This record gives sequence, structure tokens and C-alpha cells, in this order.
Amino acid sequence: MQLSTKHLLGIRDLQKKDIQLILDTAKQFKEVLQRPIKKVPSLRDVTIVNLFYENSTRTRISFELAEKRLSADTINFSTSGSSVSKGETLLDTVNNILSMKVDMVVMRHSATGAPHFLAQHIPAAIVNAGDGINEHPTQALLDALSIQEKLGGLSGKKVAIIGDIMHSRVALSNIYLLTKMGAEVTVAGPPTLIPKYLKDSFGVNVTYNVREALEWCDVANVLRIQLERQNQVLFSSLREYNRAYGITKSLLSSLQKDVIIMHPGPINRGVELDSDVADSGQSIILDQVENGVAVRMAVLYLLSGRREANA
Ligand code: CP
Repeated sequence: MQLSTKHLLGIRDLQKKDIQLILDTAKQFKEVLQRPIKKVPSLRDVTIVNLFYENSTRTRISFELAEKRLSADTINFSTSGSSVSKGETLLDTVNNILSMKVDMVVMRHSATGAPHFLAQHIPAAIVNAGDGINEHPTQALLDALSIQEKLGGLSGKKVAIIGDIMHSRVALSNIYLLTKMGAEVTVAGPPTLIPKYLKDSFGVNVTYNVREALEWCDVANVLRIQLERQNQVLFSSLREYNRAYGITKSLLSSLQKDVIIMHPGPINRGVELDSDVADSGQSIILDQVENGVAVRMAVLYLLSGRREANA
């Protein structure tokens, strides 16, 4: 089977069968990753550049590891130390790298739409590793795999996405994915951090009461306050945010059930999530990170097939 797309620019562009194929393939790669020898020759002679125009820990390491596990040749590019500081454009940078016979591009950029722009101008397959406040498709896929593993599926499951929805590419990709796969989604947080159009345009429930969201959901995906993307004051203080919207042990203990806690990382401990929740048995945060490698292996493997088909 093949994906219906040449690039992975966002979950918005994927069909339900694409998402299912990526998740099924990721499960197979997860089995490979349990073996003593974790490497397969699937992408031998394929060269991939990891272009990171914005900081990353998990995504960058995870893609690099996925590429190595698939036997691809990899090049890592980050803006610091590059000729971007001398004024080189994104397109010039990428075309120069591609002229060295690079087949696929993994890209993170602070500008919304940067990978979509690139896809219109270069022949290589592109994987969006996070663009501005738009999408982070592989994060949503690894989140979905983690929920599937824990709850046995996605359809009919209740997922609350809590926190800074407005500035979160993780929120948008999760909303696209979960609603396509038949899950119910509630977003929760301060009114100033939840876009007004979400309820009508995306078919999600909205609440400004975190307790209400937790009482309703099976899974809570807790998001970081993205101060670096906020150019105005949207809540009074981090301390007050924690009191009103933070996920604390006492809040969880007061519920009549165990909610699964997720977070894409990096965590602001003591702000959106308290340490004794992040490190508790209810948290699957490190399972999410583990699943990231298998999901990214699946995406790269499936897109490499499309690359040949489109060559
Ligand atoms: N979840 C995530 O994208 O983390 P990084 O920014 O560290 O890659």
C-alpha cells in the first residue's frame, strides 16, 4: 500500500486510510525496535537532510534515529553556524543541499507554511517537523499511536487537549487527526488561548474549565504555554495559570477515575503540569517519545516509496 501524498506537510492533507497505514507501519517498526539488532536496510542509499531552522530536542533526535535505524544516510543542518546568517534564502539553502544528491527533506521552521512553500519549488519529498503555529504532523501521529496502545483504538475515545491551544501546532495536528479517526475532542484552557473559530470550524467541544474537561475525557494531552510565540499578555502570571489551568496531583486525585496524561514536551514543570503528575504512573509522556521513532520510521519509509513512484 502507498500513501496518497508525496509529502507529509500536515495531517489536514491526509486521508483516514493514510493515517491508518502510517500507524500500522509504525507498529511493525516498533517490533523491529524491540530486536537486539534494531537496524533494517529499507532506506539504504537514500539520503535525508534534517533542516532545523528552529530549536528541537525530541523531534530532531527522533528523526535522526529513525533514519539511522532505516540505514539512510543523514545530514543535519541547523541555522547556527550556517550561511543563513549571511542572508542566504531558504530556497537557495535547500537547492544547494539537494544538488549534493539529497533525496528527502525533514524540516522544522518557525514560519507557518515554510514546508508547503518548499514543496512547490523542489522535487524532493518533504516531511514537516513543525511549522510555526500551523502543524506538527509526526507529533500527532505518535500521540495517536500512544493512545491506541493504551486504549486499544481511537474511534469513540474522548481526548481533552488542555493549555495554549492558540499557539500550538501540536493541538491543530491532533485535532485534525483525532476527528478524522472518529475520536471526540474537547479543548480546554483560558479563553484568551483558545481561538473562537475552533468550535464551529473543527467540530471540537470548548471549555474554559479544566476540571470539566478532565471529568469528561479518557486522555488529557497537556500543552506548554508557548511564551516565545506570544507578543502580548494573555494571562496574568505563570503562577496563576498553574492555579487555574495547571494539572496537579490534587486535581487528578479528586476525580473518580484515572485519566491518561500526555504531553508533547518540553514540559514547563509547575506551570501546565506538576512534576508529581508528569512522573506518575498515569503519565505516558516517555512512551510518546519512544513511539516517535517508530512513527518517523514509518513516515520516511512510506514516503520513500512515493518518491520512487514519482521519480
Ligand atoms: N515535541 C516536540 O516537538 O519537541 P521538540 O521541540 O523538542 O522537538
